[in-house]
Amino acid sequence: MQQKTLFPPITGFDTLINPIAVKKELNTQYWSIRNISQSVDLSAWRSFLRDLPPDPYVESRFKRMSWLHILKDGNVQDMGECAMAQSGKYNDASTMANKNRYYQPLEKAFLDRTDVQAFVANWAKIWGIGVGEPILMQITGVRGHGHIDPLQGQGIHADGCTALSIVLLSRENVCGATNYLYNDKEGTQPIAKVVLNAGDTLHLCDDKLFHNVDRITQQFPHTPFERFVMIINSRFVDKLQNDELRKCFPNAVLYGDKRRDLDLQQLSIKRATR
Ligand SMILES: [Fe+2]
Repeated sequence: MQQKTLFPPITGFDTLINPIAVKKELNTQYWSIRNISQSVDLSAWRSFLRDLPPDPYVESRFKRMSWLHILKDGNVQDMGECAMAQSGKYNDASTMANKNRYYQPLEKAFLDRTDVQAFVANWAKIWGIGVGEPILMQITGVRGHGHIDPLQGQGIHADGCTALSIVLLSRENVCGATNYLYNDKEGTQPIAKVVLNAGDTLHLCDDKLFHNVDRITQQFPHTPFERFVMIINSRFVDKLQNDELRKCFPNAVLYGDKRRDLDLQQLSIKRATR
C-alpha cells in the first residue's frame, strides 16, 4: 500500500523557526534556541496552567504529562497512559529516580489545539522522529513565595533521551532560573548560559550534553513567583523508561529498535525513488 507523506507541510512554522538552521546547529553544537511566540498562541497555552495539578512526587511543583505519537497521516495522537521512569543514572533526586511516576494527562482541549498539533508535528520533523515513536510532552513548573530549586535536587543532569526541547511558557516575578549547558556532569566544562523568556525554546541533544537550572528567587514580595515550561522529548536511552514503554505500548517504535531502522530505511527508499 502506498504510504502517505510522513509529515504533510504545516503552515506558519517552517519559516519562523527555520528547521534547517536549527538542525545544523544541533549537528554542530548539540543545542539551539529559537522563539516560537509568533507561531503559537502562548497566552492561550498559558490558560491551561490554571488547572495544573500538584506533582504527587515533588513538593511545590505542578505537572501534567502525556505520551504522544505521530500517525501516518501526520496527525498527533495521545497514546494513552504509561509511567514516566528515570533511572538514578539520569536523575539524582531521590523523589524521582528509579520509580514509576504517574501523572494526570495533558488536557484534551490543549492537545486538540491546531497550534499544539502543529508544534508537535514540526518538533518531530526537526528531530527526525518517525511514525509510532513515543513522544513525552509535559507541562510543569513552580509557583510560590520565597525561593526554590526548580529542579528539586536533580542538579546538573541529562533526561535520558536523545531529543529534548524546553519551551518557556511563563516566567513571572522571578529572579534567577538561568539555564546552563555543560559538556560534563561535573560542570567543569560550561558551554552556554541562557535565561529563557516566554516562547524561548531550547533544543538539546540530551545524550551529548548536560543541563541545569539555578535557583528561583521571588522578585517582589507581595505577588507569588511562577515559572512554567513545556518539555517535549523522545528517543529514550534510559532502559528503565524503554522497558516501561514496551510494556505499555507493545507496537511502539523505540530508540534502537530494528523496526525503527526498517521504517527509516523504507522512508529513505521512498524519498530516493520520488
Ligand atoms: Fe532536564
